[in-house]
Amino acid sequence: MIAMPTLVANTGPGSQPVTLGPVLSIFDPVHIGIDEFGQPVRVPLIYRNMLIGGEPGSGKSALLNAIVAHAALSLDCKLILLDGKRVELGQWRRCAEAGAFVGPNMDQARKLLTRLQTMMDNRYTFLEECERRKVIPGDAFTPYLVAIDEIAYFSATVGKKQDREEFAALLRDLVARGRAVGIIVIAATQRPSSDIIPTSLRDLFAWRFAGRCTSHSSSDIVLGHGWAQQGWTANSISPTNPGVGLLIAEGGTPQLVKSAYLDDATCAAIARYAATLRNTVNQQAATTPADPAGGVSAA
Ligand SMILES: Nc1ncnc2c1ncn2[C@@H]1O[C@H](COP(=O)(O)OP(=O)(O)O)[C@@H](O)[C@H]1O
Ligand SMILES: [Mg+2]
Repeated sequence: MIAMPTLVANTGPGSQPVTLGPVLSIFDPVHIGIDEFGQPVRVPLIYRNMLIGGEPGSGKSALLNAIVAHAALSLDCKLILLDGKRVELGQWRRCAEAGAFVGPNMDQARKLLTRLQTMMDNRYTFLEECERRKVIPGDAFTPYLVAIDEIAYFSATVGKKQDREEFAALLRDLVARGRAVGIIVIAATQRPSSDIIPTSLRDLFAWRFAGRCTSHSSSDIVLGHGWAQQGWTANSISPTNPGVGLLIAEGGTPQLVKSAYLDDATCAAIARYAATLRNTVNQQAATTPADPAGGVSAA
């Protein structure tokens, strides 16, 4: 948890100001569920990305929501949300940066990723000038969590071929280069096929979570080639047990995890609280200097 000044929200004329509770940090490991022994599974996400694959109904959006919840409560992290279905991440809309919640709109999605790419380049220039290699807690610029529900929607389904290719190239660049400058990409796909997730892209994700997959090869596309043959296949997960998946870190071995589940009402409550925290911080910080390397909302 990070040290934050006490946050006091003014709830309106005639009401007493309310002191707000503690917040999280994106530099803390993120609780994503429990392992086979019931022990908590926490994954460090800063300087890393996560790929979430699995058939429809396997629990991808639920896991994405659990991660976004942590990020929303982390006031040292800004949120960018791309949601082809609009309702999967929609509850976090008020926690996202201005203009950084994109629904099923290819044009907006491309523009947003292009702005992120520009910001990433600016941040690298800034780090280079400071003779540093990565962002650190309390840095001049804030990490961003970029959550994408259904990569294939933008990279293979809607819009013109050229736009889809541009989206895929932008995403790959963010995943490849964003880590050191605090851009964390968490991307879900219900089509773990080699056209959506080529090996070269898959290997850029430090964390990979395979919910139930329809075949051994889909499972391998998420986890890495050869795991199914060694007995680690998300194809053997029961379709009646959503949220269960195999989690692997780069260089590691798969681990069976049951993801944490936030139902709609809980998500909505956390989102409201996180939005209040964020508004309060923004009001209190209105007079402090801007991000020297530029934020996406200002770009
Ligand atoms: N960790 C979990 N624990 C319990 N139920 C879950 C969990 N994850 C998902 N579910 C159930 O499965 C349903 C489908 O999950 P969802 O995340 O929407 O799947 P996907 O995005 O892969 O299509 C949810 O509506 C919920 O009822
Ligand atoms: Mg989903």
